[in-house]
Amino acid sequence: MIDPAAFCADAIAKLRTEVPGRTIVAASGGIDSTTAALLAEQALGERARAVFVDTGLLRQHEVETVSGFFRASGLRFQVRPAADRFFAALEGVTDPEEKRRRIGATFIRLFEAEAERFQTDRLVQGTIAPDWIESGGALRDTIKTHHNVGGIPKDSRLVLVEPLRDLYKDEVRAVARHLGIPDADRQPFPGPGLAVRVNGPVTPDRVRRARVANAIVEEEIESAVRAGTIRRPWQYFAVLLPVRTVGVTGDNRVFGEAVSVRVVESVDAMTAVAMELPRAVLGRIAERITRELPREVVRVLYDVTDKPPATIEWE
Ligand code: XMP
Repeated sequence: MIDPAAFCADAIAKLRTEVPGRTIVAASGGIDSTTAALLAEQALGERARAVFVDTGLLRQHEVETVSGFFRASGLRFQVRPAADRFFAALEGVTDPEEKRRRIGATFIRLFEAEAERFQTDRLVQGTIAPDWIESGGALRDTIKTHHNVGGIPKDSRLVLVEPLRDLYKDEVRAVARHLGIPDADRQPFPGPGLAVRVNGPVTPDRVRRARVANAIVEEEIESAVRAGTIRRPWQYFAVLLPVRTVGVTGDNRVFGEAVSVRVVESVDAMTAVAMELPRAVLGRIAERITRELPREVVRVLYDVTDKPPATIEWE
């Protein structure tokens, strides 16, 4: 385990060398990029500007939550609305790696424009070690293309600055706590957002379904944690599956989609175990998802696969 104070002092010194002028910071609201953003702010003050992109692929109330969180962390930031751009880039795409590439490219183009406006070519990102290891950076097969690693086009003018690239998640959390970031233990959320939790086509309608289902999983799991029924999981979310499956409402058979619920325990996301949940918690999740998305989602499954052989996300 690293010494957070020594790490911060070192990272701040390095940022001052690597960013001679100004920089923008890609800030998603997650622990990694918030930590990177605060280090940049401490190192560079007004020469750093955090940009939070509203991709249209965010969770329920995420723009408001993240904005509040940034304010509480003392970060200067701006919100860049870009849902239309992302949905246009994803139109007709079903291949998971292609989705990640398109999302990555869309992010980079947005950041290039923001950087130009802020008169810089530097971009600070919160990339951590598993991001590039799993993107094939360590002589392994590509497990997935992280949008913040694999999606960067070769012709980009941006120069990346990645102060956390040698850290693992538990180390980032230690640094985040040291910097006073609130709620450093909250669950990770992937940069490509709900796009990797919508199997098949990514349309505004299907993202809305995934968003509603996700919010229900989060609410029910958090309420079970508060009640002391279960330990706090590493991650807990819903995935929308592109199947046509039959349900029944009243006397009618209706065809809708299915949702898979994923709740895992882990320490660093490199391996994970599917959590054993009380039947009542699962039942409440299934009941609410089918009731709050009537005719759209008619079946709820629980994913009992560990990592490996599965990954945590479905795509
Ligand atoms: P997997 O699905 O590979 O995920 O077991 C491991 C951890 O990484 C998160 N994840 C991502 N985080 N950008 C991110 O910042 C991404 O593209 C991305 N893909 C997966 C995932 O939620 C889990 O915590």
